[in-house]
Amino acid sequence: MSESKPATDPILSVENVDVSYGRVNAVRGVSFSVPEGGLVALVGANGAGKSSVLAAVSGLVRPAAGKVILGGRDITRWPAHRRVGAGLVLVPEGRQILGTLTVAENLRLGAHRRRRHAAPESEMYELFPVLAERRALPASALSGGEQQMLAIARAMIARPKVVLLDEPSMGLAPKMVDEIFTVIEKIRASGVTVVLVEQNARRALSAADTGHVLETGEIARSGPASELLKDPKVVQAYLGVE
Ligand SMILES: Nc1ncnc2c1ncn2[C@@H]1O[C@H](COP(=O)(O)OP(=O)(O)OP(=O)(O)O)[C@@H](O)[C@H]1O
Ligand SMILES: [Mg+2]
Repeated sequence: MSESKPATDPILSVENVDVSYGRVNAVRGVSFSVPEGGLVALVGANGAGKSSVLAAVSGLVRPAAGKVILGGRDITRWPAHRRVGAGLVLVPEGRQILGTLTVAENLRLGAHRRRRHAAPESEMYELFPVLAERRALPASALSGGEQQMLAIARAMIARPKVVLLDEPSMGLAPKMVDEIFTVIEKIRASGVTVVLVEQNARRALSAADTGHVLETGEIARSGPASELLKDPKVVQAYLGVE
């Protein structure tokens, strides 16, 4: 049967995904979908399973059950590099840039992963001016916030369709957190779909259209981000009093 795809088809869907590490069931029955150009936040406490969901989506772990669908294609069994080739790129927790390589070399590695689509380096320096000034420095010489910018730039140079950001604001000073969120808004404004994992639930939900709250491996609450920000249970557990 050939049905034409409705315009509302999500670009990414996670369907009933389980992730297990030996006997630890880190993620159970997680489902959510992301419309093209959308910004979805996954929030939750330490150990809730946020990074494990991103690992299943990016191909770093094989889910024990469930499916990952990208642009209508079942990619559950694809290796990670093939997902990158298809435009699904992860910015991992803790940045994982190569400290002995320069800023420019780190960017080139990012571009190499998706050579036919990659943006010119100069485009990244426009988006991240702080990197332009530091392009010849070893990445280890950058501040934590600058290293996070580099990690995001290394993903963006591959011109992803969907970018998965794992705790981009972690450990950063408030001013740097603001800059990171400004960059996330710009990425989103450029039409790239964003899945944002954060412990900083208030900031993440403020930036997102839709949010999902993960609790011990399961989605406990989902909805428009603006409603989750007002949900008494979410406020009490994740947002605290202002
Ligand atoms: N490689 C692994 N081997 C065994 N257990 C793991 C592994 N990675 C994660 N876990 C466990 O799976 C659960 C979910 O971990 P995960 O890293 O996905 O949580 P998280 O929400 O990203 O937490 P955080 O906010 O601390 O980054 C935790 O109980 C964790 O200890
Ligand atoms: Mg994590």
